[in-house]
Amino acid sequence: MTSKILKVLKYPNGFLRKKTEEVKDFKDPKLSKFISDMAKTMEAEKGIGLAAPQVGSNLRICVARVNNVLYVLTNPKIYSYSRKKEIFEEGCLSFPGKFFPVERPVKVKIKARDAAGKKMKIKAEGLLARVLQHEIDHLDGILIIDREVPKVQP
Ligand code: CO
Repeated sequence: MTSKILKVLKYPNGFLRKKTEEVKDFKDPKLSKFISDMAKTMEAEKGIGLAAPQVGSNLRICVARVNNVLYVLTNPKIYSYSRKKEIFEEGCLSFPGKFFPVERPVKVKIKARDAAGKKMKIKAEGLLARVLQHEIDHLDGILIIDREVPKVQP
């Protein structure tokens, strides 16, 4: 199976605002092909995360690579957020060269399925928690400009 690099849609492409639909057919050979295309695209673009709407799909899938571990999440749902939050500058492949300060919980717990449909839970903190929250936002049509922390006027 050869994976290919997909075109990453840039803001304000309307696809980035669409709600996604859950993956139901994990046996579909197109699914594993698409997921490996997403991983290849993320690497080619030097991103640390990529969500399906960014490559024009309406499926609830995202990938991330943090500390050299590849994460593939289908149908992810965050079910627990830490009370502690942090502000950090985030970039996004759909906003090339731009960074926005975004406040997010430092730890989250996520339920998801892997590429084969197997259930899994991830306890994420630090960079992984931030990346996965960013990617799951994409699956709900939410972008970093929506979460940008307003600059305090001196
Ligand atoms: Co993004």
